[in-house]
Amino acid sequence: MNAFAHTICQWYAAYGRGLPWRHTRDPYAVWLSEIILQQTRIAQGTAYWHRFMDRFPTVDALAAATEDEVLRLWEGLGYYSRARNLHAAARQIVAGGAFPDTLEGIRSLKGVGDYTAAAIGSICFGVDAAVVDGNVYRVLSRHFGIATPVGTSAAKREFTALAESLLPKGEAAAFNQGMMDFGALQCTPLSPACMDCPLQGSCNAFATGRTTLLPVKKTAAKPLERRLSYVYIRCQGETPIRRRGEGDIWQGLWEPYVLEEETPAFPGMRPLKSVRHQLTHRTLLADFYLLETPERPQLPEGYRWIKETELDHYAKPRLFELLLEAL
Ligand code: ADE
Ligand code: SF4
Repeated sequence: MNAFAHTICQWYAAYGRGLPWRHTRDPYAVWLSEIILQQTRIAQGTAYWHRFMDRFPTVDALAAATEDEVLRLWEGLGYYSRARNLHAAARQIVAGGAFPDTLEGIRSLKGVGDYTAAAIGSICFGVDAAVVDGNVYRVLSRHFGIATPVGTSAAKREFTALAESLLPKGEAAAFNQGMMDFGALQCTPLSPACMDCPLQGSCNAFATGRTTLLPVKKTAAKPLERRLSYVYIRCQGETPIRRRGEGDIWQGLWEPYVLEEETPAFPGMRPLKSVRHQLTHRTLLADFYLLETPERPQLPEGYRWIKETELDHYAKPRLFELLLEAL
């Protein structure tokens, strides 16, 4: 067995949590625990696991219940699709004659994904499949110094392959549950207990001082900002406007002199106001200016001089309206 897995399994034997579903290899009991724990913390999940085991001690009992009864017992746990899938899967299992004992068979149950299938398969049937979740990403990325952003499909592939390569054959149950508990108790998100960690000597993050930097989170797409400078030019009762061409939300609308990501430099130009304008996918930061001039300035192509009194006849973007209000 590789040293990493050996340490995890030893640690699990000493410090693993004595959770009630760990005293059995009954796949029904384990499956129930895994579905409950998909989106629920251990303490609350344990209470519900007992509730379900008391009321429906076997998969046959669960399958014989109505969906309504199952939903009512699930009340308070949230994510009710889990309860509906649980009930449907119980009927799948009963129809199949036995709890499936292969990874593919388990994976085919409603509500069971890769993680849950690997957990049930390894714990109940000794299948050599690694579980990969947030705990596993964290422990592996720190110990092996992997900076691939988690939450990407590349990360899922990379961490799954690494976990599979580390998984000791025949010891998947201890290794998987050891990884879960090690991530939950020792190598925790905010304050890993490195000082008494049995992996400290081989841990890349510890050696390089990167425990707080790993795992790398995929940065949420930053709301895009766009800076616009609008100059309202007033010359003898007239103002230049231009029709917006194709390519954005303002296509076909009329706008005053505008620059993007640049500050205009007309002598005598006065700042009027700055506004933030929120669109669905970006924020516009607009600066409004007024240039009053007795002579028409040189402008790029496409501007049309119109009487200010005729502005009403032109369709304008909201920002142009705001500029006119600011005048
Ligand atoms: N979270 C998901 N499955 C778990 C399990 N079997 N033990 C502890 N935490 C878990
Ligand atoms: Fe996690 Fe710290 Fe142990 Fe490394 S030394 S595995 S960061 S607890």
